[in-house]
Amino acid sequence: MSDQFSANPIGSVAEQNEQASRPHQQIVNEQVALDTETPKANSLAQKVKVWDFPLRLFHWSLVLLFIFSFVSVKISEMDWHFKSGILISALLVFRLLWGLVGSFHAKFQHFIASPKRTFQYIFSSLISTKRKHKTGTEYIGHNPAGGWMVVIMLVSLLVTVFTGLVSTDEIYLVGPLYGFVTESFALSATSVHRFMETVLLVLVGLHIAAIVFYRIFKQQKLTKAMITGYKQIQPESLNEHERKLLEQQLHDTQSKKSNKLPVMACLIVLAIATGWAAWLWQL
Ligand code: HEM
Repeated sequence: MSDQFSANPIGSVAEQNEQASRPHQQIVNEQVALDTETPKANSLAQKVKVWDFPLRLFHWSLVLLFIFSFVSVKISEMDWHFKSGILISALLVFRLLWGLVGSFHAKFQHFIASPKRTFQYIFSSLISTKRKHKTGTEYIGHNPAGGWMVVIMLVSLLVTVFTGLVSTDEIYLVGPLYGFVTESFALSATSVHRFMETVLLVLVGLHIAAIVFYRIFKQQKLTKAMITGYKQIQPESLNEHERKLLEQQLHDTQSKKSNKLPVMACLIVLAIATGWAAWLWQL
């Protein structure tokens, strides 16, 4: 458990400038778990903890429930569709709060990059011919484009779920929050909910295509990292500032200064999400 609840901040530089201005001490106090014998960020690949256990559980539960929601509506099992929608809404409540208080790479502030840097990243990625380990091309957490894709997916899921909760089929089915909105709002929300099915399918298609792209053209095993929580990072593929953070964190781990993941915050966030789902369930 303690292994799963440790986290590290070494790689993701959501805003290089912002991080460059962070005081040294602040970096030293960040959480990290790095499985390595050496305190030097040398050219050997380093096994780095990136995704904490709650985030991975969120992701794979979301995948299963997303498929379940899709299938249940297609076979007109609306009761199951509503139930999985409630569970997805609880997952989203969890993720939103975890993005504020979770481990380093789960936090929104560490993976939402400025539009300028995002376009620079996309441009340099596409024109890059020397695909593997090109300096500054690899990120320990979400890369700038991936970070925005996460935001778009989460917002789309939120819109889908919350329009579903107030929806009506105009015959006898209504979502659990239908009673809190006007009839015209519910009708508009139902149209948006139906439209979002297509939007989500496109986004998930792009999401999976991007993962395959990174696997084939950049030799990055993103799915494995989302399962195990660890990534193999080649220090020379990081930009200078990120590499400095890597070295700092390696040193930090050796001197046992690294902190644990915020377990108490996790339990509170979990309780809020569970309470939300329980309330919807009994409506
Ligand atoms: C088999 C299918 C899928 C695979 C292999 C997969 C894999 C991944 C991977 C590797 C990441 C991390 C990307 C990175 O390193 O930047 C990720 C993130 C994410 N995926 Fe998927 N994914 C799948 C399906 C889905 C589906 C169906 C959804 C939603 C409907 C989804 C939503 C997300 C979200 C929201 C994140 C961001 C995680 C976070 O930071 O909260 N994924 N996925």
